[in-house]
Amino acid sequence: MAVNAVSYRIPRNDVAVPVILLGAPGAGKGTQAKRIAARYGIPQISTGDILRENIVRNTELGQKARSVMERGELVPDDLVLPMVADRLSQLDCAQGFILDGFPRTVRQAEWLDEFLRNCSLGGQTIPPVVVSINVGYNQLLQRLTGRRSCPVDQKIYNIYLQPPKSDCVCDLCGTQLVQRKDDREEVIAERLQSYQRQTLPLVEYYRRQGRLREINGELAADQVAAETFAAIQESAASAAAGGA
Ligand code: AP5
Repeated sequence: MAVNAVSYRIPRNDVAVPVILLGAPGAGKGTQAKRIAARYGIPQISTGDILRENIVRNTELGQKARSVMERGELVPDDLVLPMVADRLSQLDCAQGFILDGFPRTVRQAEWLDEFLRNCSLGGQTIPPVVVSINVGYNQLLQRLTGRRSCPVDQKIYNIYLQPPKSDCVCDLCGTQLVQRKDDREEVIAERLQSYQRQTLPLVEYYRRQGRLREINGELAADQVAAETFAAIQESAASAAAGGA
């Protein structure tokens, strides 16, 4: 697939790099991506959210992805890669971006490496910071079965761990919270297996490249965020100084 050259700018008062969030379903990638986006003023690019939006709008992509996602399997690369290339080429990515849910296979990671080799941040090619958010199996199950979200402002809650102030309505806008179709127990099992089989090898892939930062995702969300910001700053400073 053709890879377009894209030029990214570093914000004047901060260091920005592409950020990749790795982690099992329910590890807290979406929760942390929103905090990083607010902290650095760069967009969250969630491949799962883009696919779900396409399903809601009933686009051709949404029609093709719907049944695959409802089974908890990965959507084929011929649908996902052009979608990511298109999103990364948009202007709001010019100061960096956070990838949440991409890459998910070694093949997607190799494609992304090639894509980013053709991009530059402030005139330099800057490799992404890869943050792996680690959470144990039982905690993942509780997070996934308890997750609810607001369809209007996308705020994420958990009925067990981070409940809304009043029963099942959004704290911000009062809309009834919804549960994702793939958060049913039988689909969760397939998603966790697919993570083990297809996505976990990425941890080793990025460790070998010396880019991996591992975070204990079982801490409170604010602590996970603080550690994630520190990892981003450290990697960005090292990249700006010509390191890995
Ligand atoms: P996607 O939408 O990416 O889902 P996922 O990877 O399964 O991850 P989740 O969104 O379930 O979890 P998360 O890590 O974001 O956790 P969250 O912050 O919400 O993908 C869905 C599907 O799309 C895939 O199955 C596949 O079919 C398709 N797809 C997507 N990308 C693809 C790709 N690249 N290639 C092919 N197919 C693709 O948190 C979870 C819960 O925990 C919440 O309730 C939250 O409130 C709570 N929580 C979070 N952090 C904490 C904390 N520190 N303490 C306590 N509770 C917490």
